[in-house]
Amino acid sequence: MVGERAPCGQLRLLLLAPLCLLHPGASGHPYLTGRAPEEAPSIQGVRGGSVELACGSQPAPLVVFWSFTPLGSLIPWPVAVTNGAESKVEAEASALGVVSLWNSSLVLRELQEGARGHFLCQALHAAGGQLHTTYTHLTLAVLVPVSKPQVWLSDPSPVEGTSMVATCAVREGTEPVTFAWQHQAPRGPREALLGVTNRLLQLDPVNRTHLGWYVCSAHNAVNQLSSDGAFLDVIYGPDNPVITMEPLGFTEEGFWASEREEVILSCLAASNPPSHYVWLRDHIQVHTGPTYIITSASHAHTGLYTCLARNSHLDTRTQTSVQLTIYYPPKGQPSCAVLPTFGALALVCTWPGGLPAAQLQWEGPQGTGPAALSNVTWNQAAAQLPNSSVFTCTGQHPALARPTLCRITLWEPLRSPTCWTTATVGDQFIMLSCEWPGGEPPAMLSWLDGQKQPLGSSSSSLAVHLLQTQGDLAGRQFTCRGTHPLRVPDPLCRLQLEAPQLAVATPQVSVLEGEEAWLGCALLGGTPPPQLLWLGPQRQQVEPGTSEFMLLPEGAQLHLRIREANPARHRGIYQCVAQNALGNSSRSVLLEVLRYPAPPNVTISRLTYRRQRREVQVQWAVQGPGNLTGFLVQRRASVPGPGAGAWETAAGDIEPESRGRRLGGLDPGVLYAFRVLALNHHTAGHPSEVKIPADPPFSAYPAVLGAAGTGMVVATVASLLVFQYAARHPETFPRIEPPPITPDSDPAQESTEAPVNVTITVTTTP
Ligand SMILES: *[C@@H]1O[C@H](CO)[C@@H](O)[C@H](O)[C@H]1NC(C)=O
Ligand SMILES: *[C@@H]1O[C@H](CO)[C@@H](O)[C@H](O)[C@H]1NC(C)=O
Ligand SMILES: *[C@@H]1O[C@H](CO)[C@@H](O)[C@H](O)[C@H]1NC(C)=O
Ligand SMILES: *[C@@H]1O[C@H](CO)[C@@H](O)[C@H](O)[C@H]1NC(C)=O
Ligand SMILES: *[C@@H]1O[C@H](CO)[C@@H](O)[C@H](O)[C@H]1NC(C)=O
Ligand SMILES: *[C@@H]1O[C@H](CO)[C@@H](O)[C@H](O)[C@H]1NC(C)=O
Ligand SMILES: *[C@@H]1O[C@H](CO)[C@@H](O)[C@H](O)[C@H]1NC(C)=O
Repeated sequence: MVGERAPCGQLRLLLLAPLCLLHPGASGHPYLTGRAPEEAPSIQGVRGGSVELACGSQPAPLVVFWSFTPLGSLIPWPVAVTNGAESKVEAEASALGVVSLWNSSLVLRELQEGARGHFLCQALHAAGGQLHTTYTHLTLAVLVPVSKPQVWLSDPSPVEGTSMVATCAVREGTEPVTFAWQHQAPRGPREALLGVTNRLLQLDPVNRTHLGWYVCSAHNAVNQLSSDGAFLDVIYGPDNPVITMEPLGFTEEGFWASEREEVILSCLAASNPPSHYVWLRDHIQVHTGPTYIITSASHAHTGLYTCLARNSHLDTRTQTSVQLTIYYPPKGQPSCAVLPTFGALALVCTWPGGLPAAQLQWEGPQGTGPAALSNVTWNQAAAQLPNSSVFTCTGQHPALARPTLCRITLWEPLRSPTCWTTATVGDQFIMLSCEWPGGEPPAMLSWLDGQKQPLGSSSSSLAVHLLQTQGDLAGRQFTCRGTHPLRVPDPLCRLQLEAPQLAVATPQVSVLEGEEAWLGCALLGGTPPPQLLWLGPQRQQVEPGTSEFMLLPEGAQLHLRIREANPARHRGIYQCVAQNALGNSSRSVLLEVLRYPAPPNVTISRLTYRRQRREVQVQWAVQGPGNLTGFLVQRRASVPGPGAGAWETAAGDIEPESRGRRLGGLDPGVLYAFRVLALNHHTAGHPSEVKIPADPPFSAYPAVLGAAGTGMVVATVASLLVFQYAARHPETFPRIEPPPITPDSDPAQESTEAPVNVTITVTTTP
């Protein structure tokens, strides 16, 4: 900055300084020709900005003169001059900007590019009475900021694989200008493309990752500016579609889904512009669009699904196919069964159907058993199994969320088989039955004959064998054998066919007449169970439920009850008969119906008239022992001789304690005879002697005379006389005999058995 001192005229010449400057220094060289710039300090300014150019370091020069030589020129021209008091700026200096002086410094504002060049400040100082000139050389560089860059794409929509160049353009800017590129994928962050500092960004080949916004920024010593984004729309695709499914299930061939499930098939093929999708099932179009929803899957939805993707811009197509299988479980649930095999058990679990077939697995008390699809059998040795062993078959199927089970509990029936026989109607066949109910598996039963040979095949729970009725069956033995895997040894039940055997309670039964007779009969044996019946005295079968007979079965017994036993109808021999298909047997019972003992004989002790023969008083006495239940007084209106009136009851129901009675209602004009009988249940005793009432003392004749008023006096008197005579001479008068009881009754029996009939006819011997 420090120049040489050079004498330069006078102060007055100040305004002519450029001329003076032409001869600076002692050398006399016009050093403006270019010697200075190498050494001159360089100052940078920015276009439009300001710079201050200082003129040396010494204070307060007397005169300052600024000149300027444009870059590339040799000719300096004056810019400004000042003497401290006043200053002058050349008008042409406006090409440099807005120029002013600030003391000795030149200030340039709104700097123009034209200010590039060399500035020279010549200052005149007074020191020590001498004038000195100092020269200050400055080189000014005016820098230009970069303008806003613009990006230009050689092809804004290149197809993937082609090449593309992006150019970043700046209108101006002081070199060196450097460039930077940024890329922002859609929805991605803005990222710098490292290593690219060029104006040109070459993409070769273009791929889809290049799609997005491109921004270029330029910068130089002054500034940095970024362009607006330019969008690069890379056209590509479609790629091969990718098919996904929800919910996801893989098979060897493709996908599977469960019946009735909602299945969502999605297709995605990367493409720009985005793909158009078409779905085909077994080559028939079923849907357009990326997502095909099967709301409820069924067998019919099984098939080959193809997704076609198309890029409409490029008219390119791709496709992918996938096999979809709709799985469905077998119907219902697995079924467990146990089949008895010889000495073992076959546990069978089946669950047919379904797609794919269900997986079945046995599990038992001792662990897991075999597994198979649809149908699995487990052979078990039964011997060690305890009662109530549980076996479970688990069925699993991909279409079912949880496994389905079936269970089987092996159990042993209680007790042992029971045997019995029955005969068919008509006794043509004998049926052997054997039962052992329950059990899992059910017990097997079979009939064996006496030689342990099986009769027919075995059957479960109930075994029946029919035998034709034959003579030689009695005594034969049959065995029913039960088999069950959990029971060792085999339980048996035996029976032997036999003809009936029976017994009667007593072989002879006696009852009094009118009483109830019970005949008892008990079955002692017989196979098949015999039928019991009673035969009456006439060998007719007793029908139950009549009023006189009643059959009362009681276990193996059959009672016959006879109500109100009657000697004539019920006495005799009864037979109890037992019969089965093998024969019959019978026992006899003799039923005797005894008459009651005769009531005691009665004699009339007194019989007298009362109340003018309208009433009699009768008294009697009982002779000898005998049970009685009452008395009966009879009267008869008559005269002795043929055609006498019949006996009629004058008083019945007389208590057994009574020994007398008054009887009214008599006709005084009629002559009555009386007799008394004792009664005993069903039997009447012998009648007493017949008596005619006697008049009480002093009263007989007025009564007779009273009767004469009726006009029948003569006859009445005659009969009266006869009776009076007869009463006084009974030995000469015909006697009244008791009637014979029955015409042919046994006299011996009659002495013990009283007459049955109450109506007794009395005959008089002439
Ligand atoms: C200009 O000069 C005057 C007088 O010498 C001085 O007072 C002033 O500070 C100077 N200005 C600058 C900016 O140096
Ligand atoms: C795309 O090109 C870039 C380089 O420009 C490369 O790094 C990238 O792997 C390419 N991508 C594909 C998918 O080809
Ligand atoms: C189960 O399998 C057996 C042979 O293993 C076969 O005999 C039987 O028929 C099958 N049952 C079913 C229901 O498929
Ligand atoms: C075996 O168990 C079952 C119950 O599970 C029972 O009913 C049956 O009586 C038992 N059998 C024997 C022989 O105890
Ligand atoms: C008893 O058996 C014999 C032959 O055995 C037969 O004649 C008779 O009628 C049978 N009696 C009854 C009551 O069935
Ligand atoms: C009762 O009278 C009848 C005839 O009148 C006679 O045969 C019978 O012996 C008498 N009985 C007694 C116990 O006196
Ligand atoms: C009278 O009947 C009773 C029971 O009814 C009997 O005990 C008694 O022996 C009978 N007397 C005569 C004499 O028959």
